[in-house]
Amino acid sequence: MYDPLAIALAAIATLAVVLVSSLKGTGWEPTADISDEVLEKRAAAVPETDFPEPGNRAIGGGGGGGAIPAGGDGEGGELEEGGAASAGPADIPEDEVEYFEVEFLKEGETIELANNETILDQGEEHGWDLPYACRQGQCVSCAGHITDGPSEDYIEHDNQQMLDDSELDDGYTLTCVAYPRDSFSIETGEAP
Ligand code: FES
Repeated sequence: MYDPLAIALAAIATLAVVLVSSLKGTGWEPTADISDEVLEKRAAAVPETDFPEPGNRAIGGGGGGGAIPAGGDGEGGELEEGGAASAGPADIPEDEVEYFEVEFLKEGETIELANNETILDQGEEHGWDLPYACRQGQCVSCAGHITDGPSEDYIEHDNQQMLDDSELDDGYTLTCVAYPRDSFSIETGEAP
């Protein structure tokens, strides 16, 4: 009949074959063009964008794809409103510009200044070497003293950040951000 030893050897041999074949792997190999296929599918799934591909986080994420239209719906209104709010004295149209007589006490001369340009700019255009540093209302290098009274009765500051109310009341101004609103006399190079 059957030899038990032969049966055991056959079973062991079968197991060995199964083991060896399973160690060889599943036989799955990535196809050479899988990457391109995936990229094409993803590219087709998201809308066109204006920014360069490396920065486009929408590629590869459905959530990102939704983020683009959401941003687009962000109603550029806020930006447009911001732009309108930024209109300052320098934006007065040429046909609405007014001129005032301003006496520069140290320079010994009275000149006409427009209300859409700073005292500093117009003094320089006249040929004077007036003091300044930042030209943004953030230091006091360009400070001057209006001798007629509180400075903001005669000029409008566009975002001066250095003078407090009492200094303004004493007549001090930052000429780099000061636009004439009336005629006055000023001492340049005078800080509080
Ligand atoms: S130059 Fe700095 S505040 Fe005018």
